[in-house]
Amino acid sequence: CLSPSLLHLYDVSSSIVVIIDILRATSTIATALYNGAKSIIPVDSVAECIKLGKQMDVITAGERDGKIADGLKYGNTPLQYQPEFIKGKTLVLTTTNGTRLLHMALAEGAQGIITGSFCNLSAVCDYLAVQKKNVILACAAWKDRVNIEDTLFAGAVISRIKNNFHQNCDASQIAETLYHQASNDLFAFMRDKNASHYLRLMGYGLAEDIKFCLTTDNANILVVYESGRLLLR
Ligand code: MLT
Repeated sequence: CLSPSLLHLYDVSSSIVVIIDILRATSTIATALYNGAKSIIPVDSVAECIKLGKQMDVITAGERDGKIADGLKYGNTPLQYQPEFIKGKTLVLTTTNGTRLLHMALAEGAQGIITGSFCNLSAVCDYLAVQKKNVILACAAWKDRVNIEDTLFAGAVISRIKNNFHQNCDASQIAETLYHQASNDLFAFMRDKNASHYLRLMGYGLAEDIKFCLTTDNANILVVYESGRLLLR
C-alpha cells in the first residue's frame, strides 16, 4: 500500500500491517528500542504528546514537516536516541506521517502491527517469512503522496520474501522493480531522483540522518505494537 489514503482498500483486519516510514519515524523507532528504550508510545497529535509528557515520566518528541514540532524539545532524528539518552526510558513520539499511519491502521482494525525500516530489515523479513497471514506493507508516504524511500523499503522486503507469498497487487511489482534499480546505492538513488523528503532533510542539514536511515540492519530488532506501545520483541 503505497499511500495511507489507499489503506481502506486493503483487508487490514485480517492482515499483518508493516508500518513503513523510512525518513525517519520507523528508523527512529527501531533505533531507540535497539538502544534500550523501554517502550515507545506513538501518538497522532502534538497536543497528545505534550499532554502525556505532563502526566507520565517519559521523553516526549516529535516533528512536523521534518522539524522539531512546536512545544517539543526533541525531534525525530534517530541519532538523538543513543543508549545514554534513551536506555530505560519511555518515548512518546508523534510524526507527520508515520504515527498517523499507525493510528489509521488501528482504526481500520489492524490486529498485528510491526514497524519496518532498513535499520531492522532482516528482522522484519525473518518474521514475515514464517507468518501464515496476509501482509500489508503500508507506506507512510508524505501527506498521502507516494514517496520513493518507503516504496524502496517495501521493494526490499518483497525481493527477499516474495517466494513465501502470493503477491496480489501491482504496487508490489512497482516497489520491487524500483528497489532493484536502487539497491546498489540507496543514498545516490534518492539524490539522483531528487526524492522530495531527501531534498527537504538535506535542506535542514540532515544528510547523516538520511545515510543512517538507508543503512541496512543497524538496529536489527523486531518491533511490535501491543496495547498502545511499540516494543522490542
Ligand atoms: C514522517 O512522519 O514522515 C517522518 O517522521 C518525517 C521526518 O521525520 O522527517
